[in-house]
Amino acid sequence: MYITINGTDYEVRGESTVLEVAQREGIYIPTLCHHPALEPYGACRLCLVEIIAGGRPGLTASCALPVSEGLVIETDSPRVHHVRQITMKLIMAACPDVPAVMELAEKLGVTDTPYQKASVPNSCVLCGICVRICSKVGTSAIGFAYRGSDRQVMGPWDKTPDTCLGCRACENVCPMGLIKFEEKDGVLIGEPFKSRVTMAKCSECGRFFTGAPMVGTLQQRVGLAVDLCPECQKTKEARLLAHAGGLGRYFNLEKQDH
Ligand code: FES
Repeated sequence: MYITINGTDYEVRGESTVLEVAQREGIYIPTLCHHPALEPYGACRLCLVEIIAGGRPGLTASCALPVSEGLVIETDSPRVHHVRQITMKLIMAACPDVPAVMELAEKLGVTDTPYQKASVPNSCVLCGICVRICSKVGTSAIGFAYRGSDRQVMGPWDKTPDTCLGCRACENVCPMGLIKFEEKDGVLIGEPFKSRVTMAKCSECGRFFTGAPMVGTLQQRVGLAVDLCPECQKTKEARLLAHAGGLGRYFNLEKQDH
């Protein structure tokens, strides 16, 4: 099928959202709550585009808009631009001093906000990516709490989430870089969610390498026994490959393995 974006026709095969097509074609649409591994969420409204024809005319979130034959879209019309800027100013006010927010604002031509700034600097933008990845990869150890301006992400009752696996998926996907895990004496300490997770030791080198509950979960869910840290795993794979190709002597591996 064909859709038209900014006056150019694009062929689309299979199911896609307008955002995915735009990203594939190198057309910039700002996003905040979108993650390619997760279902569309439609919360931030930064990815708004204007439907000109082929659908109900007006502004809509491109991350949740499926492509359909004959859709005509503008990604940067004056209307889109205006609404995106207002949205950005509201986000800036809610999350002052977050570098990733400032960077995005600059891209949209927004340098300041006329709205009253929140008193807590570096606050979460509530994109919900961490909550959604935790429910997909982990165990829904974190979630939204409270409403309105008090809304925030936390463990149950703002206590240490005892089902946290220590997978660190939330840390990896947070677009604001506000989630941090640190390893201390065999315990993974995750903030701001107050995670405390015992770590697993590598059976080869003895180093702590990931949350012990994550190791158990991988075994349980996909039958994968993980007992090596990434470095030792790589070395093991290199040895197997070298031996398979009869290259062991070039890598000085034969002695270690016999
Ligand atoms: S990226 Fe589409 S609404 Fe946030």
